[in-house]
Amino acid sequence: MRLIKVSDEEELSRMAAEYVFSEIKNADRVVLGLATGRTPLGMYRYLSKYSKEYKLLFSHVHTVNLDEYVGSRAYHAYMQENFFDHIGIPINQTHLPDGEALDLERECKRYEEVIQQLSGIDLQVLGIGENGHIGFNEPGTDFSSRTHVVELTESTLSANAKYFTHEKQPQKAITMGIGTILESKEILLLAAGVKKANAVKELFKGSLNENIPATVLNHHPSVTVIADRGARSLL
Ligand code: GLP
Repeated sequence: MRLIKVSDEEELSRMAAEYVFSEIKNADRVVLGLATGRTPLGMYRYLSKYSKEYKLLFSHVHTVNLDEYVGSRAYHAYMQENFFDHIGIPINQTHLPDGEALDLERECKRYEEVIQQLSGIDLQVLGIGENGHIGFNEPGTDFSSRTHVVELTESTLSANAKYFTHEKQPQKAITMGIGTILESKEILLLAAGVKKANAVKELFKGSLNENIPATVLNHHPSVTVIADRGARSLL
């Protein structure tokens, strides 16, 4: 696992955007796995800016997001507003789980098929939860899990409550499984702020611990972590 040390969230956003941009700049086709939350917001802002500056439309890019809340389109709206609207990507090349699907089990299967039809994910961007979750894979999730429905933990609900001022906070989500995430060819994990320090410390211990889902990344051959000073404070 490679660690890129940055000082703050601004530098993290720029480094992450440069990393992703260099991957897509010279490629004929790229499948990007994307995350939501506060941490990648600055990366999306920089990527949108680079797209304009370099006049590079993301028409050769396909995206698959990690997760969506059940009964909500909150992450669809987030992606549209913060990224898809700014980069010239055909909307049918962007994919998120449908949290409003009537048959959620079927939706999970469909989402796995979408990823397979794209021939897998080239680069998966991840954030990290305070409890070490990746996507919405909460502590205790089987490391071989595929896309599934989860009951969110108290820790995750309270960390994300601030985003639900206009709608009731969903208690469940659909998430790519840990097994699904691990099949990505390359992984870029972003961690900012002292609230993530404990999860980052556990990650860099190097051992696997199902109670801290991110530790599974020690099993993956190509992981880069970009962490700011706060997130590295317990290393
Ligand atoms: C949510 C998302 C995760 C994200 C995490 C951390 O739970 N499902 O994909 O990594 O929040 O979010 P933030 O970057 O806001 O701390």
